[in-house]
Amino acid sequence: MDVLTVDHPLAKARLTVMRDARTDSATFRAALHDLTNMLIYEATRAAPLRVERIHTPVARTDGYWLANPPLLVPVLRAGLGMADQAHKLIPDAQMGFVGLARDEATLKPTPYMESLPEDLSGRPVFVLDPMLATGGSMLHTIRLLTDRGATDVTAICVLAAPEGIEHLGAAGLPVRLVTASVDDRLNDSGFIVPGLGDAGDRQYGAV
Ligand code: PRP
Repeated sequence: MDVLTVDHPLAKARLTVMRDARTDSATFRAALHDLTNMLIYEATRAAPLRVERIHTPVARTDGYWLANPPLLVPVLRAGLGMADQAHKLIPDAQMGFVGLARDEATLKPTPYMESLPEDLSGRPVFVLDPMLATGGSMLHTIRLLTDRGATDVTAICVLAAPEGIEHLGAAGLPVRLVTASVDDRLNDSGFIVPGLGDAGDRQYGAV
């Protein structure tokens, strides 16, 4: 599986704010917004463009648009914190939603909602989730997408664990990963180490 690690100095600085246990929820959300911009920016670097002539106030020139904007799919809850920023950068993108909660004992994802277009053939998809830990949630989401015909999926994650990357890679699905960091490992509770804790709880508080 292709893994693109965005280790730009500004990305490292925002990620540090998110990792720091002293960071409050509002500051954590703001850093996630900024980092999402950087991840989406890199994820779209090779996106095909449609070219059309436009008029500036001075002359005619080529204008550029994304030829095939991706469907954005935040994974609830934590991925919601990436959705608005991604949408601001790609305003003509459609958005689908997948709701999953990871069982704290088994670490398996329990689905609780799904709102996706029926047919995804020929459409790139960006899945937004801050964390790729065991990879179970991402794998479940990507299967929902490939079952609908998607063949071009990008997982956009702030952090990834090597175990999750291996799990995704072994599934042989058409996915690439864009992340700000591949961390060291998972601990016994399935948390990424050093990680940043629980991205949902840190944004929204534990419920
Ligand atoms: C977290 C995280 C991912 C998932 C990663 O969500 O946001 O969705 O766990 O773990 P995995 O790779 O082992 O599946 P969680 O289920 O805690 O729900 P939340 O977003 O509502 O906090």
